[in-house]
Amino acid sequence: MASFRTTGVALVTGAASGIGLGAANALAEAGALAVVFADIDKAGIRASSEDSKKFATNPDYSPRAYVLDVRNEASVNAVVEKVVEEFGRIDYLINCAGVDVASYVPIPDHDMEDYDKVLAVNTRGLLLCSTAVIKVMEKQEPRTFQTSSGITRDLGRGAIVNVTSALSYAAVPGKVAYIASKHASLGITKATAQDVKGKGIRVNAICPSWVRTPMYEEECKKFPPVEDFIKASVPVGRPAEVEEIGDSIVYLCSPAATYVNGIGLILDSGLTLTVHLGI
Ligand SMILES: NC(=O)c1ccc[n+]([C@@H]2O[C@H](COP(=O)([O-])OP(=O)(O)OC[C@H]3O[C@@H](n4cnc5c(N)ncnc54)[C@H](O)[C@@H]3O)[C@@H](O)[C@H]2O)c1
Repeated sequence: MASFRTTGVALVTGAASGIGLGAANALAEAGALAVVFADIDKAGIRASSEDSKKFATNPDYSPRAYVLDVRNEASVNAVVEKVVEEFGRIDYLINCAGVDVASYVPIPDHDMEDYDKVLAVNTRGLLLCSTAVIKVMEKQEPRTFQTSSGITRDLGRGAIVNVTSALSYAAVPGKVAYIASKHASLGITKATAQDVKGKGIRVNAICPSWVRTPMYEEECKKFPPVEDFIKASVPVGRPAEVEEIGDSIVYLCSPAATYVNGIGLILDSGLTLTVHLGI
């Protein structure tokens, strides 16, 4: 359906791997004019951006691979400037760069150094990227979309999707830094949506439970019961695939979601409805 297309310029952080890579490819498939793959993993983004051409449906599709460290304000500003220089605007920002805790250690034995590292990427990095991109979005011309019934819908100046987690709402043992970072990321999502009110920028969060990515595979190694837990407790008995998350990110960026703002969209197959009951 035409209203589920994303024809603008996308900047995706964490795009070398996992959900970021899935989101970048989904945006290319949904018609993006350009997708900027941004990540600290230089080799990863080079390969992924090249590979994305096979998914792209826009005849003028232009992928780019830019090295970005979301913890570093100068690096963030440099990448955002480069995107604007090349494409003149940024329509979608997908904040997907993220890290897990180094090991699962319950409070009070948790490691504060690791806490600072996780929050620097997952929370501070996310806010730095949004800040730089909002300064661009607020100055660019709004876009419109013609619906099939002939109505012109205002698309505004841009859309931001923060990839947070079902752990923005819930908690598990031994992951205080990650849980704090994801609760804060949902808070930043709501605060940003409030602060940019009236500027034509929508800001939403995607909150998945487990998604089959390198981060998930690592978690299964560190904490093997997680696989059995998923089989027993997630209604579909499996983690999500990155394509399933990518499609929801496309939706939140697309003209189909012009009335959706400030939400945390839980993608968990219904897990969090009953998980507290242990059934
Ligand atoms: N996989 C899951 O089960 C799951 C569930 C819920 C939420 N999430 C969240 O989704 C996001 C992506 O996770 P994933 O599972 O795809 O992990 P992943 O490890 O596959 O990908 C994370 C990407 O972020 C990049 N990155 C890390 N630090 C960075 C930095 N400082 N600057 C720029 N890029 C950086 C990595 O290089 C990597 O490419 C994370 O925020 C994660 O917390 C994952």
